[in-house]
Amino acid sequence: MKKDTVTFTDNTTGKSIELPVMRGTVGPPVIDISKFYKETGYFTFDPGFMSTASCRSKITYIDGDAGILRYRGYPIEQLAAKSSFIEVAYLMLYGDLPCASELERFTALIRRHTMINESLKSFYQGFYHDAHPMAVMVGVFGSLSAFYHDSLDINNPEHRELAALRMIAKMPTIAAASYKHSTGEPFIYPKNKLGYCGNLLHMMFSVPSEDYQIDPIAERALDLIFILHADHEQNASTSTVRLAGSSSANPFACVSSGITALWGPAHGGANEAVLNMLDEIGDASQIEKYIAKAKDKSDPFRLMGFGHRIYKEYDPRATIIRQMCHEVLTKLGKEDDPLFELAQKLEEVALTDDYFKERSLYPNVDFYSGIIYRVLGIPANMFTVMFAVARTVGWVAQWMEMISDPDQRISRPRQLYEGTSLRDYVSIERRAGCDLGEK
Ligand code: ACO
Repeated sequence: MKKDTVTFTDNTTGKSIELPVMRGTVGPPVIDISKFYKETGYFTFDPGFMSTASCRSKITYIDGDAGILRYRGYPIEQLAAKSSFIEVAYLMLYGDLPCASELERFTALIRRHTMINESLKSFYQGFYHDAHPMAVMVGVFGSLSAFYHDSLDINNPEHRELAALRMIAKMPTIAAASYKHSTGEPFIYPKNKLGYCGNLLHMMFSVPSEDYQIDPIAERALDLIFILHADHEQNASTSTVRLAGSSSANPFACVSSGITALWGPAHGGANEAVLNMLDEIGDASQIEKYIAKAKDKSDPFRLMGFGHRIYKEYDPRATIIRQMCHEVLTKLGKEDDPLFELAQKLEEVALTDDYFKERSLYPNVDFYSGIIYRVLGIPANMFTVMFAVARTVGWVAQWMEMISDPDQRISRPRQLYEGTSLRDYVSIERRAGCDLGEK
């Protein structure tokens, strides 16, 4: 039988080696190069992991050329239309959709852990009122490991599950408190009769002195956005969580590092950046100017919410969010929202422009999500926080999968060293070019 290998030949020595090829259930085959250095003396060079599979996973599948996204095999379109965020969270963690009693038990477990320790609340007071909520999130979330010592043993499956449930349950409470801190309003306790997203809205927008009615349109819209954001295989923040976890760091610390990576405008920070960009563009007459800026290589400006490392087609999440934008704005009587109109016009111009066509740059998930957040009354600096709440499910599921993987080892990439190879130490008075002492 033909062996499933590829041959590497070193043209300088003429030596050849066979590299095993691994095949997943779907997706491109993967060349196993784990012994490549040992057998050839070469490292491989792949900045940004353009061609590198860093792990095995059974959670999320993406085919970027075909615009396909599946969680545990289920198309994102079906989950968005029929499922709920809490059910998707179960699917992510346990691998299959729950039956009714499993979902009930899981929902009850999440509800049991929604409160945060009263001492944790005092952390917020250390932040100035104008601190970016993501800065607060990184600090407060990272401190959870100082409170929950009974779920820190990563080798104990019960500890791992408890930590996972705590993180998913407490994230909305921590996020809402970071918002309340910025407004100066009192923190609101979770109300466990509410659903996951309803509770988040309640903790963000209710005040003790008044009744607050959760708008079912807002709750469903948030739930849907959270489904779309729940996981996206080995993206920058998830890889950060896995990298931190590979050193056996505790899960609260690992997820906190994921929040940090998510914050960057090239990743989850893009949803806030899109809104800022649309505000800056102002109206349709300015679109050509900004398209030209985005194409100008001497200008750092990029069209935020456009382009993706993996998708060379329309991001399937953007298709769903765009449609949802129409529905939510219509239901809320805001179908003439000028920002949505501007975004659609911008998309139309970009998609017919050769620069964007040649590079397969399409709107990504963040292009329209901010517009929905804004009509729901969520301020721009909370957009990435909302993303972090949803993505916690993916981070936690990926961390759990990593810890249970028998092949898991500390992640330790190598490098192509380009610095000075060797030199002798020179005392300070004898250093050339130094203005102290002799030259
Ligand atoms: N505007 C203008 N040009 C762009 C854009 C953009 N948004 N995105 C990519 N390009 C250009 C690059 O300049 C490059 O051009 P070149 O080939 O002439 O040098 C080419 O398209 C390829 O881009 P790369 O940066 O090499 O692609 P990469 O896969 O490394 O980056 C990224 C992907 C970071 C998402 C990029 O498209 C980007 O910065 N987009 C804007 C930020 C954004 O929306 N991020 C959210 C991503 S989704 C998420 O994380 C949830």
